[in-house]
Formats: sequence, C-alpha cells, structure tokens
Amino acid sequence: MVCDSVGVASVGVEAHPIVVRICKTKLLWAGDPGRVREFAANVLKCAHDVSPDIFTYPELIHRSYDPDVLATLDGLKTAWRNLQDASPESELVWLALTSILRATSKAGTAQWQYILPNKTKKNVILPGFAFQQQVEVMVSDMRWMQARTDRSLARIIAGDARSFAETMPQSIDAVITSPPNANNYDYADALRFEMTFWGDVSGWGDIHDAVRKHLIVSSSQYSSREKLQPDDLLGSDAVKPIRDELRAVMDRLAIEREFHGGKKHYHTMIGAYCRDISLVLRELRIVCKGGAHMCWVIGDSAPYGVYCPIDEWIAELALAAGFKQTRFEKLRDRNIKWKNRKHRVPLKEGLLWIEG
Ligand SMILES: C[S@@+](CC[C@H](N)C(=O)[O-])C[C@H]1O[C@@H](n2cnc3c(N)ncnc32)[C@H](O)[C@@H]1O
Repeated sequence: MVCDSVGVASVGVEAHPIVVRICKTKLLWAGDPGRVREFAANVLKCAHDVSPDIFTYPELIHRSYDPDVLATLDGLKTAWRNLQDASPESELVWLALTSILRATSKAGTAQWQYILPNKTKKNVILPGFAFQQQVEVMVSDMRWMQARTDRSLARIIAGDARSFAETMPQSIDAVITSPPNANNYDYADALRFEMTFWGDVSGWGDIHDAVRKHLIVSSSQYSSREKLQPDDLLGSDAVKPIRDELRAVMDRLAIEREFHGGKKHYHTMIGAYCRDISLVLRELRIVCKGGAHMCWVIGDSAPYGVYCPIDEWIAELALAAGFKQTRFEKLRDRNIKWKNRKHRVPLKEGLLWIEG
C-alpha cells in the first residue's frame, strides 16, 4: 500500500495462507467504500436472524470468549458466509471481522502475538460495535488511498520466497523486507487463533502441515517436527559460504541443549534458517536488476545464550549470491535490560543494506 500511495509498482511474496489473504484484501482499497458499508450492514442485519452455534468451536475459542460474545461473532461469521460473493466488499468485510477477533476476546493477546487464554484482559470491545468501528476505519483508509491514486499497482505472490523467481519478471529495483528472524518465533502459530475461528485448522497439531512446513525455518518447533539433521543442513550448497562458522555454532548449540530441560532443536533451527535465507537471496539475485538496493530489517539472536551473528551471515550469503556490497545500520540494542531474560548476550536490531 505504501508503494501504491506513491505510484510505484510492487510485488509482495508471502507463504502464510491467511497472511496472503489479508495482504490481498488490503490491496482492494480502490473498491467502492459505499458498497463495503452496505455489505457490512447486510451482514449485521442477517446476523440478527441466524441462530448461533457456538458448541462446534475448539477449546481455544471457547476459552477466549464469553459465550454471548462468541454467539455474536458466530452470527456475524455465518451471516458473512451466507452473503459472501468473492467481491472486493465481501473480502474487505471478511477482513473487518477477522481483525476484531482479538479486540473482542477476553484472552490476553495482541496483533502478531500468540494467543494466551490463561491471561485475561480488562478492556474487551463488544463485537457489534467493534465490527462497525472497524468497517469505518477501513472505509476511511480506502478514501485516504483513493485521494492519492486511483488503482493499485501491487501484486501478491502467494508462494515461497525460496523459489519464486521464475513466476515474475526479473526487473526489481528495490527490495524491502522484514524476514523471519532466527529467534524461535513461530509465524505459523501466530495466526492460529484467527485460523481456528474460521475453521481453517482445528488445533495446534494441524498448524504444521497447514502452514509451518511452507515457511522459512525460524522456530525449533519446525526443526524438531521435521527431524532435520545437522549433517544434511551443513552439507547444503546454500550454506557453503558460512559453513565453518555455522558448524561451530551448531555444535555448541547441540552440546548446550543437553543442559536444558526442553532440549530444544536450536542447532538445526539455525542451520535450516541460514540455508533458507541463502535460498531466498539466490532468488532475489535472479529477480533484481544490477545495481538494485535491498533493505532487510534484521536482528541477531542467541538461543540458549549461544551468539549467532545472523546479520553478518546474511551479508556473507548475499555477497556469495552475487550482490556487491553490504552495510549494517543499527537501530536499537536488544536484551540489555537483564531482568526476566533467559540469557545476557547483548543483541541488536537494524537495517542490513545489500546492494549491487
Ligand atoms: C517478520 S514477518 C514480516 C511481516 C510483514 N512484512 C510485516 O512487517 O508485518 C515475516 C513474514 O515472512 C513470512 N514467511 C515465512 N516464510 C516465508 C517463505 N518461505 N516465503 C514467503 N514468506 C515467508 C511469514 O509468514 C511472515 O509473514
């Protein structure tokens, strides 16, 4: 949308199915705001006439809502399902409903956070009100965009950044990305709440096949579930430029895990992460013009307190992929407030500029 707002054609690549849908829907800003309001009003009206069925929801959803709130949300969902017609307004109203699921839940949560049903929050917005308010925010965003330009020049590839180059022209001038960090954050799990509400998954166990296995490896859940092997990862041609440094860190992590109850598979997580990022860089080299600029928002990490110089490794992998120069611009220190931290290794976050 930022590219659209300044009239620049853009392409986004995303592998998480519900994130793809959200991105594509946000790009429908050129639609008729009046129709969005009308569609939403019809959903609200129809929701009054449907009999909610809250008993079929998985436990996560029951624990996250009071029954009357869930009944209202279920009514809105059923009404939307009855009226949906794949039009821009239908998709935008789907997004409005999806985006109020956290604000209307009593469970502790925030956008991009795992849902915490054991923690409750005080301020919960009523679904009918939240829905109307969200539709108004979206209508005003659409008008904001429409005041600047009349059509979207953006395209979303629903696919894997490790293998997308052949699906698009090789004419990219600039890349801006906030890739997964190697910090054990599970992007697949992050939207489990929304996916469970819509019936896309029925529980945590479904998430791996539905989402996680299609993503870059950035969590130990992934590396342990797929039983990734250190030798296979280190043998991959993609990590050749950093193999010795990576091996040393993986060996330390393999030893360190034996001293921790969870015995997390960080050693293979880091190896697979580097392999995957290297594959992404190779694809980017294919689609980028010579002299292109890339900006990666990236941080280093220290699972079990073992330092992983992720920014340096990505820079080395980028040069090996054929980019000409790199430079790291630190934005902030991380892990410097020692309280409640699992380790005391100072970390940083910043912009990795990759050019050439
Ligand atoms: C740090 S988030 C950035 C999200 C978004 N750019 C933002 O700033 O809100 C990383 C994103 O990479 C996506 N991702 C993970 N593996 C991917 C892959 N193989 N191909 C494309 N996208 C992937 C995740 O689903 C997640 O949405």
